[in-house]
Amino acid sequence: MADKKILVTGGAGYIGSHVVRQLGNNGENVITLDNLSTGFEAAVTAGDLIVGDTGDAALLDQLFSDHSIDTVMHFAAHTIVPESVANPLKYYGNNTANSRTLLERATEHGVKYIVFSSTAAVYGIPPGGHASETTPTSPINPYGTSKLMTEWMLRDLALAGGPSYVSLRYFNVAGCEPSGTIGQSTPKATLLVKVACEAAVGSRSSVAIFGTDFPTPDGTGLRDYIHVEDLATAHLDALTYLRDGGKPATLNCGYGHGYSVREVLAAVERANGAPLNISEEPRRAGDPPELVAVVDKIHQVLGWTPQFDDLDTIVRTSLAWERKIAAQDPSAYWAD
Ligand code: UD1
Repeated sequence: MADKKILVTGGAGYIGSHVVRQLGNNGENVITLDNLSTGFEAAVTAGDLIVGDTGDAALLDQLFSDHSIDTVMHFAAHTIVPESVANPLKYYGNNTANSRTLLERATEHGVKYIVFSSTAAVYGIPPGGHASETTPTSPINPYGTSKLMTEWMLRDLALAGGPSYVSLRYFNVAGCEPSGTIGQSTPKATLLVKVACEAAVGSRSSVAIFGTDFPTPDGTGLRDYIHVEDLATAHLDALTYLRDGGKPATLNCGYGHGYSVREVLAAVERANGAPLNISEEPRRAGDPPELVAVVDKIHQVLGWTPQFDDLDTIVRTSLAWERKIAAQDPSAYWAD
């Protein structure tokens, strides 16, 4: 437990809300800043929620003046890849320019530590489908570039005496908090596990496999699916690391092994006890055959110990949340 407060931007969103919950359980003082554009007030289960933008310098100055904040965990971002291709300035505005404002105001007010929500999208299509932190970054869409530019700002700012930081490059995040208090309710979902669970509960008619002719064992894409609870724990481990004087670090967050689209859909069918309505479609533009993390570094640097490295657990927790949404359970939340 620390006297200082942690500002969590995007704490009402999918990943941020899981981190806020774990921080609260650990006795940390948390303030969430979220504009609720895709997040939910009900998802914030610890500390106060301030509704506003990360690009609002006056609001940030007020927040940093009113509270003794020494850490920022920065999740607030747009995250839909095809949208970033269609509307790049939206992504460079919110994900890059607003991050710059946040970093400027945080530095001005003496924030010491930053934990940043980055993405495997910074690698683009890495050779061989496996990416370590030394793999050259080469994003293939504005989403990935917008996040990489924030990584660079953090690096250069730290070199110039600014806050120390950990940038976490997430692979394919899925699953929900196992007791069902919070979950993934992001509107207009495109991510596979969420889409498949929506199909399982009948809130969409079918799920498509995008590409069955990849050079993979069953012809479908391989990804490194990481449970959101383990990902959240990595943020708490990063905080401990920084408080202990750890140097700036950029770390992959994944399990280091992949599952195919067919394996994911089979897991959803197992969890649901019924077959899915599956269509086979052409490849989606820009999808690599395989994207799996090399994860030695996060284990070495943070001593991170995942507890949910199991596809059936990931899918079961996602499906449980999706059932709550489908049943309009008042303890869940969703976009209209
Ligand atoms: C996507 C982003 C990636 C980002 C990541 C986390 C794209 C192209 N990539 O990863 O940059 O870092 O989210 O936010 O959007 N699939 C289907 N049917 C579906 C949905 C997906 O077959 O309805 C397949 C995809 O082709 C892929 C796998 O499932 O092989 C996972 O896809 P998805 O969940 O969308 O994540 P990524 O594309 O890997």
